[in-house]
Amino acid sequence: MSEAATTPAADNSAFSPRVFSGIQPSGGLTLGNYLGAIKRFVEMQESGMETIYCIVDLHAITVWQEPEKLRRATRELCAGYIAAGLDPEKSILFNQSQVSAHAELGWVFSCVARIGWLNRMTQFKDKAGKNREKASVGLFSYPTLMAADILLYHATHVPVGEDQKQHLELTRDIAAKFNHDYGVDFFPLPEPVIEGAATRVMSLRDGTKKMSKSDPSDMSRINMTDDADTIAKKIRKAKTDPDALPSEVAGLEGRAEAKNLVSIYAALSDISVEEALRQVGGKQFSEFKPMLSELAVEKLSPIAGRMEELMQDPGELDRILGDGAARARAIAAPILDRTLDIVGMVR
Ligand code: AMP
Ligand code: TRP
Repeated sequence: MSEAATTPAADNSAFSPRVFSGIQPSGGLTLGNYLGAIKRFVEMQESGMETIYCIVDLHAITVWQEPEKLRRATRELCAGYIAAGLDPEKSILFNQSQVSAHAELGWVFSCVARIGWLNRMTQFKDKAGKNREKASVGLFSYPTLMAADILLYHATHVPVGEDQKQHLELTRDIAAKFNHDYGVDFFPLPEPVIEGAATRVMSLRDGTKKMSKSDPSDMSRINMTDDADTIAKKIRKAKTDPDALPSEVAGLEGRAEAKNLVSIYAALSDISVEEALRQVGGKQFSEFKPMLSELAVEKLSPIAGRMEELMQDPGELDRILGDGAARARAIAAPILDRTLDIVGMVR
């Protein structure tokens, strides 16, 4: 976006470090969500920074959601967060709609962002498809709400997968324009944290497509709730090429499927792709795939088991979300108040 060039480099030194991120409760969690987002969320929680993780239900309804399924997906995502290692004592876990300040700040930001900026968002183009006239207005203006999610807490660090980079740039542009227009230094310019070996996990059926919970083929993804046999079957059937694995990263160029499986292996083992290739370079897929299956089952099965246990007590999950929402509100309220003050609303 043209304004991006004028967005100053972030000087967030006036703001204490705070992490915010969110995931939509629009279906089950995939291995992409886990490696690209949740695993990072846990690492940041353990780093001692203040961490706030949201279940963005208001974002989910930008496309149609069956109400009962939405409720279930919200609780399941909460269970997924906790099963993967987020601790409701250390991190604030809540669902977005319980803190109305998100929607209020989202409105202000929809008056700061320009239509031209939103027109460039590739996620909207992908999701709206050919029938753009029929997409919801919310699907188009969604990034202004995402900017509000982050800036409502003056968050400085946002762990996300690669696909969210453009939305983070827009968030920074909104913060910079707000600060500029009103002559304040009120909002930080949050930094995307896009790290790890698998910031973009690809479909198991097509290495050029992102692994996604909305792909019609269940064989294209590993779900966090898949059992060991299903995980093994999906990896066995994953698309590959006939060559052995290379020993150097450069050898993965032009081999999207091989690159994807090695990246997943590396991310699950907490090592770099270089290191992974030192271990598996030269192997045929017939030998590598069982290794990958075993590793995936070892890492994911305990999480799936814990999720199932947590889902037995939805009341407790609701209590956790309610408690998190109260803590989130306490941080958000003064920031929203001050924003409205700056804008010139009589308080
Ligand atoms: P979503 O499921 O679209 O709400 O995404 C939630 C988080 O998971 C975001 O930070 C995404 O960037 C991340 N994510 C989703 N799919 C993938 C993927 N295939 N690879 C890596 N990260 C992903
Ligand atoms: N847009 C993100 C996605 O589709 C979800 C999201 C909404 C988010 N608000 C956020 C991510 C704030 C990080 C911070 O994946």
